[in-house]
Amino acid sequence: MGGALGCSALFLCTQIVRRTFYSAYFKYKKYPPGPIGIPILGCFLSRWNLLNFYAFPTMMGKNYGPVSMYPNGPWYWSVMINDKKLIDKYSRMHAFMDRPLMWQQATMPGVPANFSAMNGHAMMDRRKLFQSTIIRMTDSRFFTEFVQKHIKQNILFPDIDDAIAHKNGKWNPWNASFCYTFNTVYGASFGPESILDPKDELYLEFKKITEDSMAGVLFLFMLTSLAPNYLAKKYSKDADGTQRKLRSILMQWIVKREKAQIKSDEPSYIDMMFESGLDRESIISDVLAAFQAGAHTTAASITMQLFMLAKHPGFKRKFTKN
Ligand code: HEM
Repeated sequence: MGGALGCSALFLCTQIVRRTFYSAYFKYKKYPPGPIGIPILGCFLSRWNLLNFYAFPTMMGKNYGPVSMYPNGPWYWSVMINDKKLIDKYSRMHAFMDRPLMWQQATMPGVPANFSAMNGHAMMDRRKLFQSTIIRMTDSRFFTEFVQKHIKQNILFPDIDDAIAHKNGKWNPWNASFCYTFNTVYGASFGPESILDPKDELYLEFKKITEDSMAGVLFLFMLTSLAPNYLAKKYSKDADGTQRKLRSILMQWIVKREKAQIKSDEPSYIDMMFESGLDRESIISDVLAAFQAGAHTTAASITMQLFMLAKHPGFKRKFTKN
């Protein structure tokens, strides 16, 4: 307890000193929007907006210019770019291809890191593979129609019917949304023919692990700034076996797909990976990253949109009209 208080006090002091220094500095040297003061605490407390954590990104997006820098914890700086043209330009520059080593160090020993935790050409090649398959596929007309038809008939409508029949019409869209988004990423990775059942045991286990880890994701992000080395050590040990379990589920899906001899008409992510000569363990790392990054984020976003539409019927009318 004493240690935690000491660390917090030290952290606050470094930020106050930093803030004072930069305020004085910027008075004389003009520079693009500079440090915003105490990170994390400062962002919320400056507006007394502590309860509305999710307003933070919106606030950042609204209040910052095309390029801004802010201290990300006591040890690092972050550069935030709010302009698509600049993103396209900078993303080709070498300096913007370097990721914090921490993510690579947080990978379980003996398995390859996923591409978003790597640097240099190998990362660029694998990222291109991801972008050229998974994104193109989820945008394709066939895929949208196929998945949407399946989602409506087998996931959404039965879930709503169940809410009407057994829950007094009170529908919580979370499970259906998650299944929808998960199936989208799953289909784009393994081929649109490989759709999962909402009651599939492996799917439910994957969902539970993802939900549990996402529940602590904000704390995790805070640790990436405040205690990166501790975080890397903790995750590389994989003491609770999370990475091992997720990898094993992925492996079972890959084996199942191989046994079923599914050969997609569309070039699915996994087929393209095998064709590019990637080994199985690296493939699992990248597909796992896409599954984890792709399902929970979009499910949370859809659930929130449905909630807001239900809460503001006036907006719903305008939205439908447009
Ligand atoms: C509303 C939906 C989503 C949100 C809010 C979201 C948010 C993010 C954020 C904040 C990052 C980190 C970017 C950075 O490094 O600064 C990220 C990266 C990533 N996301 Fe998403 N994401 C969404 C949907 C998806 C989907 C659908 C997929 C997969 C199909 C996906 C796959 C990835 C991957 C692979 C990365 C790492 C990319 C890289 O390091 O180059 N995300 N996402």
